[in-house]
Amino acid sequence: MSSILTDSFGRTIDYLRISVTDRCNFRCIYCMPPEGIPTLPREEILTFEEIARVARIFLKLGGRRLRITGGEPLLRKNVVELVEQLAGLPKLKDLALTTNGFFLSKLAQPLKDAGLQRINISLDSLDHTQFSKLTKCSKFEDVWEGIEQALTADLKVKINVVIMKGINEKEILRFGGLAKNSSIEVRFIEFMPLCGTGWRPEWVFPIKEVRDLLKENFTLAPIPRGQEVAESYRIENGKGNVGFIASLTEPFCDSCSRLRLTADGKLRSCLFSNAEVELKPWLRGAEPVDEMIERIIIQAVRSKPAGHGMTYPITTKNPEELPKIRFVGG
Ligand code: GTP
Ligand code: 5AD
Ligand code: SF4
Repeated sequence: MSSILTDSFGRTIDYLRISVTDRCNFRCIYCMPPEGIPTLPREEILTFEEIARVARIFLKLGGRRLRITGGEPLLRKNVVELVEQLAGLPKLKDLALTTNGFFLSKLAQPLKDAGLQRINISLDSLDHTQFSKLTKCSKFEDVWEGIEQALTADLKVKINVVIMKGINEKEILRFGGLAKNSSIEVRFIEFMPLCGTGWRPEWVFPIKEVRDLLKENFTLAPIPRGQEVAESYRIENGKGNVGFIASLTEPFCDSCSRLRLTADGKLRSCLFSNAEVELKPWLRGAEPVDEMIERIIIQAVRSKPAGHGMTYPITTKNPEELPKIRFVGG
């Protein structure tokens, strides 16, 4: 069905990813340098009212799905209240959040009660020592407890595993076993050249190799994909699913449905592009008018590029030659 949020390549944009903070308490090796990155001044960060207003207008224009992200979104004070505000918006079909799981054990039930439907949790290793090395955080047990509490709260749970050559690829089958034995979708993600730690071509582990290994060891039944970033499979005779996200070797830009709202109130139409449109001045203007916000959302959708244009293998080893992406969170 045609929507006003159709971009110039015919894609319908119905999914808004809302970053509620640029801060994070982890330092995942593929995402942030150990010393962290400069953080935004607090007054630059959108308030809950401002976020809910953008979300309401996005849904009015034809959006249907919202995801709360960060940095680490559960670091944002009173985030459960934001979930409650968003959950009550007309036309919303899907409300989700992506987290590192650190604060989840106590928040899973309140988030569910506030109206959250789904939660995606990053977990790149099932081994405590390796987990600490990859995240610079030693609280594996807290994250694990968070996953269990999310399941107990009856949230739909996905686990995101960034697979890196020479680092955690030996754990693929163990993660497959986790998907077989629990009602979770485990998604294997290719390392993307986005990171604050420098481009490491040697870390890329093409998803085909991950998928082949799992197909050799489990019986996988494909699930229709639609506009999902992951190609997913149900594990036969198991409880859960596995999914594969291959931004680099099998890009899915042709069916992209996403728009991003940064923590400081800019709309970004592609994860791999710095092109942004300012919303905050209109949110904070003397005479706040919805019509202007509508226009800017439509403009951001229309300006969405066809794709990231990267081809694999990326031959350069010089990070200076790669697009320099301003960090806006996951
Ligand atoms: P679902 O709705 O459950 O599919 O969530 P999601 O996968 O969109 O969100 P999540 O925050 O869990 O992101 C997991 C991974 O999806 C990221 O690491 C990216 O690899 C990929 N991803 C999310 N959004 C985009 C996007 O706009 N472009 C690309 N190329 N990858 C994306
Ligand atoms: N490559 C692949 N995945 C990444 N993520 C963050 N940075 C990268 C990267 N450079 C993932 C995190 C999280 C999701 C939102 O994005 O693992 O699960
Ligand atoms: Fe934090 Fe997520 Fe980046 Fe890890 S991937 S450092 S949890 S924002």
